[in-house]
Amino acid sequence: MSIQERKKDHVDLCVYDDVGYEMPTGFDRYYFRHNAMPEINIDDVSVEGTLLGRSFSFPLMISSMTGGYSDAGRINAQIARFCESENLPFGVGSQRALLDHPEELESFSVVRDEAPTAFIAANIGGAQIAGGLPEEKLLVLIDSIKADAIIVHLNPLQELVQPEGDRKFAGIENGIARLVTQSPVPVIVKETGAGISGDVARRLLAIGVSVIDVAGAGGTSWSKVENKRKEDSGSTDLFNEWGIPTLTCVKEAADLHGEFRFELIASGGIRGASDIVKAHCFGADFTASARPVIQALIKGGEEELQRLVDRWKEQTAIILTLLGRRSLLECSTKDVGNK
Ligand SMILES: Cc1cc2nc3c(=O)[nH]c(=O)nc-3n(C[C@H](O)[C@H](O)[C@H](O)COP(=O)(O)O)c2cc1C
Repeated sequence: MSIQERKKDHVDLCVYDDVGYEMPTGFDRYYFRHNAMPEINIDDVSVEGTLLGRSFSFPLMISSMTGGYSDAGRINAQIARFCESENLPFGVGSQRALLDHPEELESFSVVRDEAPTAFIAANIGGAQIAGGLPEEKLLVLIDSIKADAIIVHLNPLQELVQPEGDRKFAGIENGIARLVTQSPVPVIVKETGAGISGDVARRLLAIGVSVIDVAGAGGTSWSKVENKRKEDSGSTDLFNEWGIPTLTCVKEAADLHGEFRFELIASGGIRGASDIVKAHCFGADFTASARPVIQALIKGGEEELQRLVDRWKEQTAIILTLLGRRSLLECSTKDVGNK
């Protein structure tokens, strides 16, 4: 099966099938500590966020999802238009296809055509840069969308469950270290739903990575997605619940703030305003979400995506008011209690 067909399967399964973890992210174990006398007005509350020196209308990145086949161009164009008008950052899906199929450029470059000023991140797999990515190939990825950052996704679980997936993971750390020195734009490293532990985050920060996006467990299970693509999932069903819950990853990575200068994105199962605010309470600087966005877009078009983000922003403003906080930056563990 070609990469293009695989990427299309992924979108269809994520939109129409039950591919979520049963394991929770961990945010549900906490309640917000209600402030009965907040002494602020909701109109004075800001739901804005910042990442890599840029201000955004909301601390929500549209996570890397697609590209590399014709229909993906349409999806990318819609997300790009939305992010341009809403001032939200956006990561394109893996650009691996572009390295071998330059004719697929259009499904990525359309993003910059539709979003001339938005923050857009390129995307490549750790396995593809093991041992280093030739400079000219790196520039193809970045130049195709005039990227503001490049995301490296780590997904050993997904690759091992996927029959045609990569089997070699040695050399990725070195590849990322070289990328950090070569890249003209900041490097973000993310998982795809199984989580980045504090130990792995420390290794990434030690080689100069600017942003860690934990993409922990509790949202989309990529083992489930890959198993549903197989006629017989056989023994790999065992891994459907494999991963570190998102909140555990956030807490472990946030502990590194004293040691390294970096920004922390909480993702993997971000499903609403509560998750976004709680992630900030536990030390995240920003959040990201994938499956709810593609589901809204494919089922209800750009209007539905607009409604989703409007609802999350409005609920975030209400939560902040009920905590007596003027912005997400003011939130801390004092605002949550263990259920
Ligand atoms: C349809 C779809 C395609 C995805 N493709 C990619 C990809 O190409 N590169 C990547 O880094 N992550 C990819 N992801 C993973 C997401 O960026 C995200 O890390 C993961 O789904 C967990 O977030 P969620 O629980 O909000 O879905 C994809 C996710 C979805 C839903």
